[in-house]
Amino acid sequence: MAINDSTIQDIKNRIDIVEVIGDFVTLKKVGGNYRALSPFTNEKTPSFYVSPSKEIFKCFSTGKGGDAIAFVMEVEGINYIEALKYLAQKYSIEIQEEELTDEQIEAQNERDSLFIVLNFASEYFQKLLHENSEGKSIGLSYFKERGFTESTIKKFDLGYSLDAWDGLLKAATSKGHTETMLEKAGLILKSDKDNKKYDRFRGRVIFPIHNVAGKVIAFGARTLRKDKKQPKYINSPETEVYHKSNILYGIHQARQAIRNEDQCYLVEGYTDVISLHQSGVENVVASSGTSLTKEQIQLISRYTQNITVLYDGDSAGIKASFRGIDMILEHDLDVKAVVFPEGEDPDSYSRSMSSEAFQNYLVDNAQDFITFKTNVLTDGGQKVDPVKKVQVIRDVIESISLIPDGIKRSVYIRSCADQLEIEEQVLISELNKILIQKQRKDKQNKERQERYEEEPLPQSPLAPKKEELKFTSYHVERECLRLLINYGNEPFDTDMSVAEFILQETEAISFDDKMIEETFNKASDIVRSGKKLEADQFIGPKNPSMSQLVIDLLEMKYFVSDGWHEKHRIGIVHESADLPHASYKMVLRLKKKKLEKLISQTDESLKKSASLEEEEELLKMYWHLKTLLMEVDSELGTVIPR
Ligand code: CTP
Ligand code: MN
Repeated sequence: MAINDSTIQDIKNRIDIVEVIGDFVTLKKVGGNYRALSPFTNEKTPSFYVSPSKEIFKCFSTGKGGDAIAFVMEVEGINYIEALKYLAQKYSIEIQEEELTDEQIEAQNERDSLFIVLNFASEYFQKLLHENSEGKSIGLSYFKERGFTESTIKKFDLGYSLDAWDGLLKAATSKGHTETMLEKAGLILKSDKDNKKYDRFRGRVIFPIHNVAGKVIAFGARTLRKDKKQPKYINSPETEVYHKSNILYGIHQARQAIRNEDQCYLVEGYTDVISLHQSGVENVVASSGTSLTKEQIQLISRYTQNITVLYDGDSAGIKASFRGIDMILEHDLDVKAVVFPEGEDPDSYSRSMSSEAFQNYLVDNAQDFITFKTNVLTDGGQKVDPVKKVQVIRDVIESISLIPDGIKRSVYIRSCADQLEIEEQVLISELNKILIQKQRKDKQNKERQERYEEEPLPQSPLAPKKEELKFTSYHVERECLRLLINYGNEPFDTDMSVAEFILQETEAISFDDKMIEETFNKASDIVRSGKKLEADQFIGPKNPSMSQLVIDLLEMKYFVSDGWHEKHRIGIVHESADLPHASYKMVLRLKKKKLEKLISQTDESLKKSASLEEEEELLKMYWHLKTLLMEVDSELGTVIPR
């Protein structure tokens, strides 16, 4: 089903971007725009901007941006239609739905097609588990044996894949799904030998992995065979909709509970998540057997600031997991740990007792990270020899030093002093040493970065310019577009604008990047029709790639009052201070790149030329291009020093 055009128009007319985004973050007015802490990362200084007049937002920490609809899609993890429905509901607009035409179906983008085929596969696997005799006798009885109830099995959409080469392949293609889509979704594989396609998951129970919004994006599949030759789990590969490091198993089923409890339990595997749900603990997600990533921490931080990591009793990996704890601290989240008795994991332990007893265990055994680390490092905290104690203290202080919030740091220092029976003052001075060291390192990095950003000085005007090497053709194409989008309306000279200059100079140039070319063409149409260039002319759902490109290139100046550069980059001459110079130089760089490419192409043709006449033609061309290149080089050499 689709939403009809007039309803979409109604929704768009009604949207107030500040109101929409204001439901998710606290916006502060700054000049004509609004600023907030980004909802997409865990940041301390706000880098998220909303422009009500342009009706766009941009997050400078993550580069994400777009209109109000794009915001809702991003923050809720839903697609375009779902975002429209959300907005319709917010503004009490009744939705008129209509059947999709063939064309519209075609136009649905690839992501949506992937979601559709993944959903088909998930329903197919579920049907097999509940209705097929192999599925029932092998898959369903396995889940039952593990103690999963019917409602748990349904809640997690658990399924079964037949022990056959083409069960899903046949079922899906007969329903009109293409092999290409099945392959892109990671569901089928191609044999190297004869190019034959076959199912990735065969004879396994299936754990679908959902995104935040509840769409199936991947699968984990566990074998039920005992033989060691088979890998225990086979998982979906990375696809356009599945990025393993960005997702947590169970987040969809858990997110409401995480919000309500203001707490998130983190476990290792699928079965741990499911068993905990059955014990009444629903605020739980799994990193699926890999080490925790910063994206996963950010995902949790959308719902709570409190994470409790659950560890197997005999987990050899506990020490290795310290890195995960440190990462959580670095993101300014609070972290606790629960360790289970030897031989038990969250799954087995939760099944060995009543829900109430298990929930009490979690509460009673949650240790703050200092106690946890101390206990682990001292093997249970018995008699500690002084040398070891010093190491433990260092280690714990290192972790404390990662916490960005100074008040929190001092609270932990006090608790550490109590627990390890050390003078607080000693710990503070130790902490300060680490902090100062870190500050020094940060400063060095920042200086290195700034040096790189500053214009390098050329040795002599005609010497080969090393600094030009860092500009690849793609980079220069993007840079030209960046100047065009951000500064196009500024004057180039008394006769023309920066946009007119750049467009005139690049008219005959063909861009390597087709999206950049398309955007240039669009800009050219706008300027030719006598209009001003505005970023929002390029942004919208019709062309997501162009929107993304333009958003990526949008600068802070779009959102912040004039004079921002002067305030923030004191001492460094910024290009906006001399736009004619900056755009002239960038156009030259672009020409240089194009000439170099033409020269090497001509050179190639020369090597292959068949006749003397052809060779002569090519040679002429070659020297003509070389001369042009020298002119451009010399021009670049003389315009660079400023
Ligand atoms: N895992 C994986 N591939 C493997 C082994 C493990 O992807 N070869 C991931 C799975 O996400 C799994 C988690 O690591 O859920 C934990 O592994 P394990 O404890 O071995 O699996 P469980 O799901 O707990 O399975 P079971 O209890 O049935 O042995
Ligand atoms: Mn297990």
